[in-house]
Amino acid sequence: MKKTVLVTGGAGYIGSHVVKLLKQEGFEPVVIDNLSTGHREAVRYGKLIVGDLKDKTLLREVFKTYKPMAVMHFAASIEVPESVKNPLKYYRNNVCNTLNLLEVMEESGIKNFIFSSTAAVYGIPEEIPVSEEAPLKPINPYGESKATVERILRDLAVADPEFRFVALRYFNVAGADPAGELGFAYPNPTHLIIRAVKTAKGDFDKLEIFGTDYPTRDGTAVRDYIHVTDLAEAHILALKYLLSGGKSDVFNVGYGRGFTVKEVVDAVKRVTGRNFKVVESPRRPGDPPQLVAKVDKIKRVLGWKPKYDDLDFIIRTAWNWELNRRY
Ligand code: UFG
Repeated sequence: MKKTVLVTGGAGYIGSHVVKLLKQEGFEPVVIDNLSTGHREAVRYGKLIVGDLKDKTLLREVFKTYKPMAVMHFAASIEVPESVKNPLKYYRNNVCNTLNLLEVMEESGIKNFIFSSTAAVYGIPEEIPVSEEAPLKPINPYGESKATVERILRDLAVADPEFRFVALRYFNVAGADPAGELGFAYPNPTHLIIRAVKTAKGDFDKLEIFGTDYPTRDGTAVRDYIHVTDLAEAHILALKYLLSGGKSDVFNVGYGRGFTVKEVVDAVKRVTGRNFKVVESPRRPGDPPQLVAKVDKIKRVLGWKPKYDDLDFIIRTAWNWELNRRY
């Protein structure tokens, strides 16, 4: 029997890395993606259906044709600053479209769901590292949209005990496929590592550091940067967990340590061997001072063993990708 997994947003950055691992693990990935930010060329290991989660008729057709055993849901808008400027886009794409997907899953009798959540659901955590038990108090519409979906999933799992989900709360995902096949490919990225790497390459004339007055070791914000392949591996483990009867649950995915913006900028200069202009700017709205994950739960319950907890390696893979991009 084919072990088909439907992957929404599988032509995007994280989704495409997961699709590669799914195939390697003997699953049959089927991607649905509207290619608004994703790339056809990123779907190297599965079938691509170009379509939108707005389109319930299409979704019904896809479920009927492929009968997936599980759904992995990556398709979403993902940039904090954009969400502050355009909240309706975030509620529409991240909440309404997820509702469509869940409704069609319910109609089709598909019960296993893996959701891309985010550390942004914690807002400004009271304790660092932040554990999964910390309250959800997002401080930007992006985090709010993801927290809303988590609540919907929790309620749905109560209403239908056969429906089970894993929500993975990603910390700051960066880097690229170590084999160089896949990587980040949005036109105007706002995420720090990719932005810094592109500045090193000469795509931007300077890098801004947003906020130098945070209560951190050098005044710049601290984040838990993790390699995209380790994150992808967490999805495979979550899938196997659900398929073997695991209960609905939520896991942080980070390494449990943080770097400041200045530390990241220095590392990018070191790894790329390029100097570039850096300017200090005011804080960016919606940014918490520090986000570092408590990660014992995912290691204990899913047996996750990250391989690439090395900032220089993360940056090196992003740099190699940027120099040799395939799409
Ligand atoms: N930053 C800069 N200059 C830049 C870009 C970013 O100083 O050019 C700073 C930001 O202000 C922030 C830090 O670098 O302090 C990290 O910013 P990113 O945009 O790279 O990432 P965010 O922390 O805003 O958001 C990302 C994901 C979210 C996730 C969050 C968890 O987009 O999904 O990490 O920390 F929730």
